[in-house]
Amino acid sequence: MSKNVSKIERLDKIISSQGLVSRSEVKQLAKRGDITVNGVVVKDTSLKFSYDDVIVVEGKRLFQTKYTYIMLNKPKGVVSSTDDKRDKTVVDILPDDLKRKNLFPAGRLDKDTTGFCLITDDGEFAHNILSPSRHVTKTYIAEVSEAIDVEKAKKAFSDGVILADGTVLLSALLEEIPCEDRHLFKVIIKEGKYHQIKRMFASLGTTVIELKRIAIGGLPLDESLPEGSARVLSDDELKSIVKNDEKF
Ligand code: URA
Repeated sequence: MSKNVSKIERLDKIISSQGLVSRSEVKQLAKRGDITVNGVVVKDTSLKFSYDDVIVVEGKRLFQTKYTYIMLNKPKGVVSSTDDKRDKTVVDILPDDLKRKNLFPAGRLDKDTTGFCLITDDGEFAHNILSPSRHVTKTYIAEVSEAIDVEKAKKAFSDGVILADGTVLLSALLEEIPCEDRHLFKVIIKEGKYHQIKRMFASLGTTVIELKRIAIGGLPLDESLPEGSARVLSDDELKSIVKNDEKF
């Protein structure tokens, strides 16, 4: 999460990559003389500057960050990778203003899973939040096909589910979400094994039919973000990811 490294980039790219204004808005602001670099008004946004230059937009200093952290509300049908021959990836569907080299999803959601996908170019941060030893929680809403014995399931999740292949999972939290005609649950896990939630419910004899990730660590999915949309995280939001209020 270090800041202010030197890197030569187009002015419109530097400004729009901070996620506050689009590239076309940057052009308009520049035309109006509302952008200065090192105290000089710059009207040509294709000029290249360094991330160390002092850029001021409408009187506000831009504090450029080295890395980008994006919250995407992942829709179904999109794969959590950077490259795929058949399907669109979570990086493909980012708006142009947020696209940068080296972005990748920090953790995998299945093609049919929706919700909070964190996309970044900060490998160390991704490693930290994914490492099971850090216990950064991931919270999901799961709908399953068959009713289950909830008390038994809560205990099994809390004790640590043993998957069909013998993998022993860390303790997880299960809460039933009361619903008349559907079997809905909130599940909080501290690791991210392949198809983990689906396999946890399979061990209870039921099938996950809908799955949505609603939080990573202490940061909930911004529900005002429509499926398929993305935005840059604020510094406080980023910090709240690793602020784990772990209760299990
Ligand atoms: N667990 C799953 O089974 N699928 C996901 O996409 C995420 C967690």
